[in-house]
Order: sequence, then C-alpha cells, then structure tokens
Amino acid sequence: MTPDPVSPSCWKAVQDHYREAGQLDMRELFHNDPNRFSRFSLEAAGIFLDFSKNRINEDTFRVLVEAARQQDLAGWVDRMFRGEKINLTENRRVLHTALRNQHGPPLIVDGKDILPAVRSKLENIGRFVEAVHGGDWRGCTGKRVKDIVNIGIGGSDLGPRMVVDALHGYAVSSIKSHFVANVDGTDLSRVLSQLDPQTSLFVIASKTFQTPETMINARSARQWFLDRAGPGANVARHFVAVSADSAEVQAFGIDLANLFETWDWVGGRYSLWSANGLSIALSIGMAGFEDLLKGARGMDEHFRTTPFEKNMPVILALVGIWNRNFLGAQTLATLPYDHRLQLFPAYLQQLDMESNGKTIDRHGRNTSMQTAPIVWGGVGTNGQHAFYQLIHQGSDPVPVDFIVALQGDSGLEMHHRVLVANCFAQAEALMRGKTTDEALVELTASAEDGESMQDLARHKTFAGNRPSNTIVIDRLTSKSLGALIALYEHKVFVQGVMWGINSFDQWGVELGKKLVTGLLEEIEGESFPNRHDSSTNGLLARFKDRNGMR
Ligand code: F6P
Repeated sequence: MTPDPVSPSCWKAVQDHYREAGQLDMRELFHNDPNRFSRFSLEAAGIFLDFSKNRINEDTFRVLVEAARQQDLAGWVDRMFRGEKINLTENRRVLHTALRNQHGPPLIVDGKDILPAVRSKLENIGRFVEAVHGGDWRGCTGKRVKDIVNIGIGGSDLGPRMVVDALHGYAVSSIKSHFVANVDGTDLSRVLSQLDPQTSLFVIASKTFQTPETMINARSARQWFLDRAGPGANVARHFVAVSADSAEVQAFGIDLANLFETWDWVGGRYSLWSANGLSIALSIGMAGFEDLLKGARGMDEHFRTTPFEKNMPVILALVGIWNRNFLGAQTLATLPYDHRLQLFPAYLQQLDMESNGKTIDRHGRNTSMQTAPIVWGGVGTNGQHAFYQLIHQGSDPVPVDFIVALQGDSGLEMHHRVLVANCFAQAEALMRGKTTDEALVELTASAEDGESMQDLARHKTFAGNRPSNTIVIDRLTSKSLGALIALYEHKVFVQGVMWGINSFDQWGVELGKKLVTGLLEEIEGESFPNRHDSSTNGLLARFKDRNGMR
C-alpha cells in the first residue's frame, strides 16, 4: 500500500520508523494512553487543534520534526517573513504576511520600508469603504450603492467569496455582495438579472488585469451597465479595479483614481489580505476586515516564533505528510461542520493544489516524493448522507480535517448541539471503527438468524483506524477566520518546503490557457485546419456544425 517516498537522507529516519510503527492502531493507542488527547493537541491564535486521532506516536512526531529541521524549515520560514525572493521561478518575494503586520517593525525591501505603503493602501480602502457605506460615494444618478459585484477568478475570487459568505452574519445590511468568476455567461447573467445598474458597483479584481475570463466578464458587465444606466451613465462611478497593473486598468477604461493596487509580492491565492479584500471590506466593513488581518497576524506570530513541536501549522503539515507519503493517502477531505464555511473546501483546493501540485523541485529535478494530495470536501452534516460511506468503508484511506465552532450563531442552539455531536461522532467513528464481533453482538440483539447474521456482520464491519484532525474555534468571527486561513496558508508552505518545491508559482495552468487561444480562433474563424488530434478536431467540427458555423 505504501509508496516508497524516500530518497533525501532526512526522510530515512521517518521511513525506518514507518517500518516499525506503520501499523499503529489508534484504538490501542487511546486505550494505552489516557493522556493521548492532551499529548497530541494544542491551542494557538484562538484555534484548538486535536491531532490525536492520527496513526502517530511520540516517535512518529519526533522523527517528523527532525525531518523538518533537516529540511531547514526554520531557514525557509525566516526567508519568507524577511522578504527574500523565495518564489524562485518568478523571481518574487512572498510577503502576504506583511499585509497583516502593518504596525510591525520596518520591513526593508529593496532598501525601503514597505510597511508605510501597506498602511496607506489599507487606509485608501478604508476611505472608500466608508464613502460607500456612508453614502458619500454614489452612482451616476445620485443613488446609493446597494449591490457590489466582484468580478475575478481564482485567487481574485475564491478567498474573498469564501470570507464574505462565511461572515455573512456580520455584513453591513445596506449592501448585498455578489461574485462572478466563470466565463460561462450564465454566471454573469444570473447576477446581472438581480441588479439595478444605478445602484450597482463592480469591483474588477485581477492582479494581471489580463485573465481572459475576468476581462470578458468585465467588458460584458460594462456594456450591460452602459445600455441600462440611462443618459448620464458614468463608468467611473460604477467600476473600480483591484490590480497590480495600472497600465492594463487604464487601457480597460477604469479611472486610475478608482484603482486599488495589489502587490507584485503577493500571489493570487494569498491575496485576500490585500486590496483583493476590497469586496470583503465592502461587505463586513473596515473594522471586520482589520479583525481578519489581526486573526491572521496572531497565527503568523505563532508560526514564526514557536518551536516546531508546538507549532500548529508545522504539526498540521507534518501529520499531513505522514498520511500522504507514508500511509499512502491520495486525498484530503476538509469537512467543516459549519454551514458558513461551505466554500472553505473550494478555497483550500486552490491554496493547496495550485501551491503544491507539482513534480519538479526547486532545483529543477523530479520530486522524490508525492506532493499535494487531492483536496476536496463539503459541509457536515450534508456529506454524511452522500460521500461519507467511502470515507468510512472505501478502499482508500481518506484523512479528514473536521472544522467546527463551539458556539453557533444561528440562534437555534439545539441545532448547534446536534451539529457538534455529529462532528465529534464522525471523528470517533473513523478512529474506532466497528469490529465484526461488535457487529455480531448488535445483530444478535436484533435477533437476525445465524447465517445471514455472519454475512451482514461483515458488511457492518468498519476497519476504523482512519486519521482525522479536529480544528476547533470558539466562534466563527473575522478574527478566528483570519487565523484559520493563515493556519492553512502556513501548513501548505511547510509542506512545500518539506517536499522541496516552490509553492508560489503555478506554471501548470499555462498550457490550457495557451491552447484556448488557438481553439477560439478556429471556433470563430472561417477556416478549419484540422490540425489537432482526431478527438479535438471532431469536437470542434461538431460544435461548428451545431451552431451553423461551417
Ligand atoms: O490561472 C491561475 C491564476 O493565475 C491564479 O493563480 C490566479 O489566482 C488567477 O489565475 C487569477 O489571476 P488574476 O488575479 O491575475 O486575474
């Protein structure tokens, strides 16, 4: 079952340990150690992590931590926070942590402290948000803004969309937020159909301002606005941009006074803390946005300063590596028991899979280990009635991250107790499983006859020993959400370091982007050169035929 992941010497001790301890049984571990929960849990930045339901013991933990030392994890953490150009293939710094540390000691980049500029950009956002909320910023016919539409994709969509959805309960009541990402016109038209152009504000979010989906949606939205806003239609009152490229923004026709600049040293999937958080601030207000930054900052400080043995992102990353590289797990399920976090798995997919879904290491060699797992998930309890069957009895191990808030905010307290009970029950069931003997005892009680009882008992047996983490927050607030997001950002970074890859580029998305340009020309053009494989040619021909295009 287990791949042989090891070649760098730092992994040798982990592999030796795996040979001895790979078959650890959690039931036994819990039985033998009443302190297992306190031994394998910790609290940081308002987040509690229980990682005791993993197939690890003290030695597992020790060898993994030692591997982290040998991979110079401390050096990489330091280089990231100091702003070295650790994104080697793009020759960029990685400084999203600076965005939540505006009041920290000077951070010198190219001979200049960047924090005053970080603060001033945040103040710009604050002024704009205040103007919109206070009614000083009005549409071209003098009406107040009621609807905000964020048009962006990938990192310019998933993070802000997830946060706005999660913190919906804290949203300013006069503003409704919408997100459009897909180039599929149904995404945009569904949103536009709900809007009044005179009271709508479009935030065009794109670091490059060249991403085709975003630019196509932005142009269609602008046209929709111009067609409907009336004689005084003024794009400048209804379109603002979030981007690192002012020339492209200007070329699109957005007034540079309405540009909120992002940074070259912040990648898309790490950008919700930058001006890309404008839609968040417009939804929950500036104080809420600043609390989000504060929460993340708390996790940053913990990550930067805490020994690995007590360091939550490091632990989450190392346990993930144990599951992925030594226990052979190909996927990771994120299961929030909080409906407000329903978009968290989708957000995490980009963060983890775009960062660490790579097979070439920092030195241009093939990686010696399997890298990012396939990240997926969905909210509990819904998933229990859909895909949990596979998690409990499927042929592949699926490690799980449960996420739950101890206090609910729905006002329906009984619901919350049931929700939490379900979360804890699932984690316990995955760990304990059910032996055939236990199943038989149950069946005897239900008076099944002998033969069918044996048969049924096999179906009702759960192997158990399936790993999970339970991540617990007291309440879902801007601050705790900020800390939760930063926890995963750093976990992903640590895993990248351990696998020896650059987590901050994404060359793998380029090929498809290139091919689409040629295909579109063929779809729209007269000629049909038949220059692809027979499948692609056949599909193209079918499309053109059905649409009377040839
Ligand atoms: O294509 C992938 C990607 O580059 C992501 O990394 C990024 O978050 C997304 O596209 C959007 O990019 P932009 O903000 O430049 O439109």
